[in-house]
Amino acid sequence: MCGIIGCAGTRDAVPAILEGLRRLEYRGYDSAGIAVLDGRAVERRRVKGKIRDLAEELRLHPLAGVCGIGHTRWATHGRPSEDNAHPHTDCGGAIALVHNGIVENYWALKERLKAEGHVFRTETDTEVIVHLVEKHFRGSLEEALRAAVRELEGAFAVACVSSRDPGKIVAARNGPPAVVGFGQGETFLSSDITPLLHHTRRVAYMDDGEMAVLTADGVRFSTFAGAPVAKAVETLDWEPAMVEKRGFAHFMAKEIFEQADVVRDTLKSRVSLDSGRVFLEDTGLQPGVFRRASRVVLIACGTSYHAGLVGKYMLETLARVPVDVEYASELRSRDFVMDRETLVLAISQSGETADTLAALRLAREKALAVLAVTNSPNSSMARAADGLLDLHAGPEIGVAATKTFVGQMAALALFALAFAQARGALSDGQSLELVQELQRVPHKMDRVLGSAAAIERAARRYLACEHYLFLGRWINFPIALEGALKLKEISYTHAEGYAGGEMKHGPIALIDEGMTTLAVVPRDRVHDKMLSNMAEVQARGGRILAVAFEGDDKAGMAAEEVFSIPETHQLFTPFLTVLPLQLFAYHAAAAKGLDVDQPRNLAKSVTVE
Ligand code: F6R
Repeated sequence: MCGIIGCAGTRDAVPAILEGLRRLEYRGYDSAGIAVLDGRAVERRRVKGKIRDLAEELRLHPLAGVCGIGHTRWATHGRPSEDNAHPHTDCGGAIALVHNGIVENYWALKERLKAEGHVFRTETDTEVIVHLVEKHFRGSLEEALRAAVRELEGAFAVACVSSRDPGKIVAARNGPPAVVGFGQGETFLSSDITPLLHHTRRVAYMDDGEMAVLTADGVRFSTFAGAPVAKAVETLDWEPAMVEKRGFAHFMAKEIFEQADVVRDTLKSRVSLDSGRVFLEDTGLQPGVFRRASRVVLIACGTSYHAGLVGKYMLETLARVPVDVEYASELRSRDFVMDRETLVLAISQSGETADTLAALRLAREKALAVLAVTNSPNSSMARAADGLLDLHAGPEIGVAATKTFVGQMAALALFALAFAQARGALSDGQSLELVQELQRVPHKMDRVLGSAAAIERAARRYLACEHYLFLGRWINFPIALEGALKLKEISYTHAEGYAGGEMKHGPIALIDEGMTTLAVVPRDRVHDKMLSNMAEVQARGGRILAVAFEGDDKAGMAAEEVFSIPETHQLFTPFLTVLPLQLFAYHAAAAKGLDVDQPRNLAKSVTVE
């Protein structure tokens, strides 16, 4: 939620900040702004709207300066408006500040600062921080921010500049991510690494409770208490080309088509095709953890939660271990029972989702072993957990998760296999058969993606349909949930995901010619039951689309249209069944001319609760 960027150097920083904001826009896109030190004063430009609107504002009213900060916003306190857009300034207009996070005690601070004579001009929580910095300023921006952050409760990554202490950006982190990049004669601060790739591969990640002072010459780190911190500089292995669209109309389309490679990369060096063994040593988990665990709890939100459900069915079938999948936000509110033998997996593409991170920390406080399953190996979750199962999916820019979902399922399939092998729940022959089939899955995914044109035609034919019911059973029930989520979040079409067996218990009342049912019906242990569901819909005049194995005549007879997938082991069908649903949602949204990569009201990284 919200992206922050800063650049301190000797050339005009505005183009780098603007380009950086474009790359961070997936984190929030209701308003944006830039502030720079132009030699004498702090100058800023802000707009309600997207980065392209900010670019237009800068074209009309140019800005230049060698040191500056920028922000793209996802509103929490205060509606999206130019006034509420960051950077915010102090009463004197000499300090400008950007913030990602939430200041929980802002109301009390605001009342106090107002009583002390500070004049507030926005509805945001952020504005209290810049007034606090002003209040504590005695000549050093660093010391003023240090004093200010000590008064804050909540989550923040902040960056500020001041004409009274020029030539530097001062930043602080407590919660939301902040990474520093080391360029040639310039340094950068960013909410994530994607804006940095075009300037440098050398980065250092700020930790909670740390501050950084960035100048053209380098970066100095310290703790909130003022103790110096020596940081390791890491070299990124992502290529700048990975954050480009490469000829696709949208990042989401590109990412859908990368999914077979994501599975290949997640499996790479972790399976033996000769013995069927799975190796998860790179996770850092102690080998005994699998044997000691009597229960597995998977915590996640949104699409990652759906991947968790798929993981549950894999774990139950392969390892015969009890598994719970919990919404992180709900788990935190409950008196959830976790004993010492519980192994916890926190699943999150970003590794920063506030609720999942808090639930992970709760588990760590209870001294439970926690594995982070994430695409962000330097994220807060990766750092807070005992082990890291890295997805190797590459950057995902589209706000709607696609390739990270498939990467999560691949990681969980490996985890389930490793767990089962450690507990002797699979024979060598079974392991080998499963691993060999898993290795064949990417090729089959490519075949499904090859039929994208037919799915696009179907999505266009059904454009007028306003209501969808996605049905699936067992391991494809989560795929029904995911298909419905994708359709609603990017095409703004009403869609519900249901377990096929639940249809008779309520949703069947909705079935008529205005409701299209999308049935996920591969030939698996619940195939016949799903065919019965389809017959029940058909009998009530409902329209049906189906995802089924090639040559499945029974599914073909009930459905107006079948999206065919190759046969695979029933545990691995979700890798294939999800693809037509993602493509259907994508093409529905694209045909409506919607902003596929940045759907309204959403943000890629949900760092507020
Ligand atoms: C939907 C989507 C969200 C995320 C959710 C959790 O397409 O992307 O539902 O899955 O916000 O995010 P992560 O995985 O970063 O914890």
